[in-house]
Amino acid sequence: MSILNPKHYVPMQHREYSWWNTTKCGRKYLRVFGINKIGAKLVTKCKVSNDCIRYNDCRTDSDWKSDRFVEMMREAWPYFKAYRGRTFVVVLCAEIIESNNLGAILEDISLLHGLGIKFVLVPGTHVQIDSLLVEKGCEPKYVGRYRITDPDSLKAAMDSAGRITQMIQAKLSPGPSLNNIRRHGYNSRSHESVGVASGNFLAAKKRGVVEGVDYGATGEVKKIDVPRIRENLDAHSIVILSNLGYSSSGDVLNCNTYEVATACALALEAEKLICVIDGPILDEMGRLIRFLTLEDADRLIRERAQQSEIAASYVRATGEEDSTKSQNGNGCSSTFQNGVGFDHGNGFWFSGFAIGGQERLSRSNGYLSELAAAAYVCRGGVQRVHLLDGNIGGVLLKELYQRDGVGTMVASDLYEGARSAEVTDLEAIRQLLKPLEDSGTLIRRTDDEMLNALGSFVVVERENHIIACAALIPFYNDNCGEVAAFVVSPDCRGQGQGDKLLEYIEKKASANGLRTLFLLTTRTEDWFVRRGYSECSIESIPDERRKRINRSRGSKCYMKQLLPDTSGIRVNNSFAE
Ligand SMILES: CC(C)(COP(=O)(O)OP(=O)(O)OC[C@H]1O[C@@H](n2cnc3c(N)ncnc32)[C@H](O)[C@@H]1OP(=O)(O)O)[C@@H](O)C(=O)NCCC(=O)NCCS
Repeated sequence: MSILNPKHYVPMQHREYSWWNTTKCGRKYLRVFGINKIGAKLVTKCKVSNDCIRYNDCRTDSDWKSDRFVEMMREAWPYFKAYRGRTFVVVLCAEIIESNNLGAILEDISLLHGLGIKFVLVPGTHVQIDSLLVEKGCEPKYVGRYRITDPDSLKAAMDSAGRITQMIQAKLSPGPSLNNIRRHGYNSRSHESVGVASGNFLAAKKRGVVEGVDYGATGEVKKIDVPRIRENLDAHSIVILSNLGYSSSGDVLNCNTYEVATACALALEAEKLICVIDGPILDEMGRLIRFLTLEDADRLIRERAQQSEIAASYVRATGEEDSTKSQNGNGCSSTFQNGVGFDHGNGFWFSGFAIGGQERLSRSNGYLSELAAAAYVCRGGVQRVHLLDGNIGGVLLKELYQRDGVGTMVASDLYEGARSAEVTDLEAIRQLLKPLEDSGTLIRRTDDEMLNALGSFVVVERENHIIACAALIPFYNDNCGEVAAFVVSPDCRGQGQGDKLLEYIEKKASANGLRTLFLLTTRTEDWFVRRGYSECSIESIPDERRKRINRSRGSKCYMKQLLPDTSGIRVNNSFAE
């Protein structure tokens, strides 16, 4: 096939092809959309041989599907490893439990369990309790975020929780269909069902009488039985944690689902809390909010404390002060203790964070309640909370195994401490670079050169120390940028700081409209290759940069095409003057 000289172009996967018929002579041409060395889109027409026509003509839909499948598996591969053995607590909201989507969501949970993720499922029940009460001619009663659990409500709560647990158990149990894998020699006749465990994992205490209101059999979380939940997870069971707890006097207490789920995520030190809810989290313009830092989420909730009882409760539960920028860096001003909760020194002790009542039912503040629960657990140390619209088919797979996901993520640690460098950072950057300049790994820069380049530097600060730095030098005319002086302090290496910094730099480059990044390195090629950079010819980089290269160093050049970013994660995209 006669095609463009591949030497000057990025690898094949970055190209798109389409057939282009020239009617006059009746010959077929291939139209190639390539990305040239500086990232500009290029359209050309090349004659193709008969072989090529035959090869492409005979590709069927199922061939393309298979290719797409391979591509998807490769995209998901890093996540397979990252999630194996991790614990995710999943709230399935009562509206989703009642919907037709539940079966597919549970099938995906079963699949993910098969890939090694440990799941604790906390099903919501309020819709089912309310409808049982209405059927009996009783009116559901809420005060603030809590239900008043009178004897009728308790019966309805027990019926609902029992029925839902049984149903989830039944839907999870069959596991994957074995028919298709028989032809690969898997002939076992024994039925390998998925293990599901439920039990008395939740100790509760009566909410009692608060401000003159008797909440009846409504409970608050006292303690989560972490060792027994862990035991079951380690024995490869999915754990179902019902919202019904037991009191020290042996009574059944009806607890708030979110209070149970958030307390459980904190007590288990889960990697993620995932809330499968019945709609998307949108901004004022109706666009999906894909990502919020804990700081942004916290601010957003506090701003609404006047108009929302749930937001006001969040402020009470987490302290008046915005402590997301706290000393220990994870936004948590006091440590969570299972069985005790948080003490903010304001007289309030909290285990989990309850959401519910009329405010949530009416959705008068959208999904602010769920956001408050997300921010609450993030402050307590759960690094990622995902709020997912359960009406999206395959939402868990799409969120967890694709780079940009489809839901809203609240994260406490992403790019934590990364920011543009300031003049006061100069000395710290110098100290980071010096050993590498001395060893010849990096080119030595004079003070003037450093000062001039400072505007391109990004630093990572942890506890008032600069622990990493890198420069992003844009070449706007060529739509590309150079990554340089990329260093992580020796005592912080091997903790993923390099990955975080590189991702931050790539996002900053994308946000500035750059399409390609390149770098010159003598000693770190493997590290960058593992992160998607491929070797390219020195001729591929912009002329103005090429002219300044000290060829005697023998540096090799690496390049990466930046994919369009739809994650919604914002980084500071300005370059200091
Ligand atoms: C390369 C560097 C930035 C990585 O930072 P980091 O925070 O340790 O990186 P991460 O924690 O994200 O990744 C660590 C992994 O990178 C590997 N690694 C570290 N230095 C490497 C190198 N020079 N070449 C290849 N792999 C390297 C580690 O062995 C580790 O591998 P593992 O995950 O299989 O255990 C850091 O080692 C560094 O500052 N090196 C010196 C400066 C340098 O060479 N800069 C490049 C100038 S272009």
